[in-house]
Amino acid sequence: MKVAVLGAAGGIGQALSLLLKTQLPAGSELSLYDVAPVVPGVAVDLSHIPTDVKVQGFGKDDLASALVGSDIVLIPAGVPRKPGMDRSDLFNMNAGIVKNLVEGIADNCPDACIGIITNPVNTTVPIAREVLKQRGCYNKNKLFGVTTLDVIRSEAFVAELRGLNPANVTVPVIGGHSGTTILPLLSQVEGVSFTDEEIKALTHRIQNAGTEVVEAKAGGGSATLSMGQAAARFCLSLVKALEGQSVVECTYVDGGSEHAEFFAQPVRLGKGGVEEVLPYGEISAFEKQCMNDMLEGLKGDIQKGIDFVS
Ligand code: NAI
Repeated sequence: MKVAVLGAAGGIGQALSLLLKTQLPAGSELSLYDVAPVVPGVAVDLSHIPTDVKVQGFGKDDLASALVGSDIVLIPAGVPRKPGMDRSDLFNMNAGIVKNLVEGIADNCPDACIGIITNPVNTTVPIAREVLKQRGCYNKNKLFGVTTLDVIRSEAFVAELRGLNPANVTVPVIGGHSGTTILPLLSQVEGVSFTDEEIKALTHRIQNAGTEVVEAKAGGGSATLSMGQAAARFCLSLVKALEGQSVVECTYVDGGSEHAEFFAQPVRLGKGGVEEVLPYGEISAFEKQCMNDMLEGLKGDIQKGIDFVS
């Protein structure tokens, strides 16, 4: 299994690469690419950890070598938020970065599964689809917006509120990855019930958890360590799936939803990427209302990505 991380020298990229160096199956390869000159050093640093995962670093002009033969490509390249910004403010900087990197994927490893982390995810994933379509190599089963951070935050916050072991808490999160488009299905958390006030407050906290980190870091960036963990979880699930196990994760994918062209919901992963987009089941009246209120915004975010490429 070869995994490439594009933007590997950044806050998310380094945390993610460390987790993959220690957790990918023996015999895997980890390919680190970044435009920052420190990337070969990050690779050397990681290579001193004694696991059977081969790490190589690739600088600015070596995108093709970084990508050739990759089974999975994760993209955390781009600019993060500062206090006062919302994710759509990153569009001008990050849209072009994602477009260029996905062109590189189309040219060098068109069959790879692609996990987009760069914000605004609601928009950068449609950008990736349009680029791949233009290059004639689009496979909707292999393109994912990584929304796992919303899932792990929900698990952490529910466990904290009820004094549970987070390992035993599962919370599906559907919709998109920005503000109110993030819709945690708290009505589906098994064995736990909440008052209406708790549901409102928890939903609001999950939707604004990214801002909680941005403000706490006070200009020093956004979530990197929790995002590294989230992306590693998603990547390791994908590795298991490509090796033949059936694994379910919530992720932002193309098709499978009546609500919008791209929508995050539980997806069964398998050897070919998306094996089946699963129904998200019954939702509460509050969740239905949240869904109705956010769909127009989500569709606008998607259209912005499509328009950017065309
Ligand atoms: P960072 O600034 O620490 O790292 C970004 C890295 O990307 C830098 O090393 C930079 O040199 C590199 N880069 C920039 N242009 C590049 C290019 N063309 N090719 C390759 N590398 C390039 O930022 P951080 O905190 O790691 O965040 C990265 C992105 O992830 C941001 O867009 C942020 O908003 C997003 N993010 C997404 C989350 C999600 O849940 N999907 C959660 C948190 C952040």
